[in-house]
Formats: sequence, C-alpha cells, structure tokens
Amino acid sequence: MAIKKVGVLGCGLMGSGIAQVSATAGYEVVVLEQEQRFLDKGFAGIDKSLAKFAEKGTLKEPVADVRGRLKGATDRAALADCDIIIEAIIENVEEKKKMFSALDGIVKKDAIFSSNTSSISITEVAAATKRPDKFVGLHFFNPVPLMKLVEVVRTIATSEAAFEATFEFGKSLGKVPVRTSDKTGFIVNRLLVPYLLDAIRAYEEGVGSVPDIDNSMKLGCGYPMGPFTLLDFVGLDTTYYISQVMFEEFKERRFASPALLKRMVMAGWFGRKSGKGFYDYTDANNPVPTKF
Ligand code: 3HC
Repeated sequence: MAIKKVGVLGCGLMGSGIAQVSATAGYEVVVLEQEQRFLDKGFAGIDKSLAKFAEKGTLKEPVADVRGRLKGATDRAALADCDIIIEAIIENVEEKKKMFSALDGIVKKDAIFSSNTSSISITEVAAATKRPDKFVGLHFFNPVPLMKLVEVVRTIATSEAAFEATFEFGKSLGKVPVRTSDKTGFIVNRLLVPYLLDAIRAYEEGVGSVPDIDNSMKLGCGYPMGPFTLLDFVGLDTTYYISQVMFEEFKERRFASPALLKRMVMAGWFGRKSGKGFYDYTDANNPVPTKF
C-alpha cells in the first residue's frame, strides 16, 4: 500500500492544514471542495502559513515547490487515483456517509479511506462503504501545521495492513502518531472535553473569573492556553457538539454540556471564529473578557 497521492475532503481549517502538511512532506495532494471560493479561502490560509515556515527557514524547499504539489478540485473524479482519502468535512454523520459511499465507486479499490472526525463513530461511517477493512480514523489537531500529534483509530473491521500503512503515513507527515480504538473522543478528547466543560462549571459556580481560571492553568500548570482561550480557539459550537456525542455514548455527567455553553452556542457566540465567546475579539489582537 504505497501512498503517493493524497486526497483531502474539505478545505476548511482542518482540511487545509492536512493538505498543507501532506504537500510539505512531499505528497501530491488534491483537495476537494463544493465551490471554488472555499478552495480559494483555504489556499490563502496555506500560503500564509507556508510563508511563516519559509521565513523561519524550516521548509526544505521553496514554497512554490510545495504549492506545486497542491491542487484544488470541485469534481470528485479528481480523486480517482489517490492512495489515501482524508475526510475533513462538516461533523455530520449522514453527510460523511453520503460522501464516502459516493467516493467508493470513484476512488481506486485499494485506496485507504480515513476520517479526521473528532467524535463521530469511524465504524458507522466505514459501514457505509464497501471497504470497511480499509477505513481508518486519522485525527489531527488545530493548528495542524504546528501540532505534532495525530491519533490513528482502528475499528473492529480495520485490517492490520490498512492500519499500519496509515500509521506510517502519519509518521511520514512529521507527526507523532498514537494508536487508539474507535471509542468516542479517542484519547485526547476523552480527557480534554471534560476538562474544558469543568472549567465552564467552575466559572458558573463562581470559583474564579474567566481570565483568572485561564491564567491559573497557564501559569500554574504550564498549559499553552487556558481553558477558555482554548474553548474559543476550538469553537464553542464544536465543543458543544462533541460533548453531546460523548454524553450520548457514555451517559456520564462529566461529558454533559453546562447550561452556559448551550446558551452561548444558541446566541451564536462560537468563540474566535464568530468574534465572540468567552472573550470578545472585536480587536483580534487584544481580546477582552466577555461580560455576561
Ligand atoms: N502556521 C505556521 N506558523 C504558525 C501558525 C500556522 N498556522 N500559527 C502560529 N504560527 C506561528 C506563529 O507565527 C508564531 O511564530 P513566532 O514564534 O515566529 O512568532 C508561533 O507559531 C507561535 O504562535 P503564537 O505566538 O501566535 O502563539 P503561541 O506561542 O501561543 O502558539 C499555539 C500557538 C501553538 C497554537 C499554542 O498556543 C498552543 O499549542 N495552543 C494549544 C492548542 C491546542 O491545544 N490545540 C488542540 C486543540 S483540540 C483539537 O484540535 C481537537 C479537536 O477535536 C477539538
């Protein structure tokens, strides 16, 4: 299962990052989007990020060479000869199933299918294809070009060969792959999500202010971001969605969404991307705590 050509589904924050690290590692990459404008937006982010790496001297070749391996497409046929497909579209199980079952008849039979989902069951999406033995989870972290980890997820139907090929592929991207199984949240979100939800509960109970809780975890524990800065960075809508899926799976209070998180999502306060979350990003370089 030699991997030479990579297909990425979705050119949002995660998809564009995955495409970037794949091209940087020397793979030919095709990124599929519904419309050209989404490709343009994602590629603009890639250009900005590659320029930063070039400035620091950490790229092994000129930016133009990396960019030369990256192609955008709006037609699924462009993925036909890819050796691995990495899906990073909307977190909606029906959309993912629809996409993969359509690609099953287009992409060559021995290609590996993988999903970057953080919480949807890999087994369920794999079952919508005729190749569940070649279906693996490949969960990256935001920002993809900087975060070193990738979780490689095995289902009860994944073959040893497909799993190991995907694991080695993760390594070839310069990431540190870890092996995990298809239990909702895998390793990182299993531990991270209850921590983030607990920070909100602590705030609701008056344990401390948002900046004080953030500073406590940054300065007391050496975390790069406090929990509220990280919640705004990951997206409150995303965290809310993951917590719902995890609560549904485990029925444990630690995965249940605090009332405040739900209200903020209902209000359209999604964090950094919407301009407001636990902080207000009207001045993006100088966020101030939101007044509740
Ligand atoms: N591409 C290239 N370079 C980038 C970049 C990008 N996309 N983003 C930032 N950088 C560079 C900056 O330019 C800066 O360079 P410099 O040192 O030369 O100035 C350097 O990286 C550091 O960035 P910043 O100064 O802006 O900020 P930090 O020092 O805080 O680092 C961070 C940024 C790496 C994001 C760090 O804050 C961090 O590790 N935060 C935690 C992120 C995290 O936990 N991510 C996982 C979220 S969970 C998830 O994704 C799973 C999902 O399922 C929920």
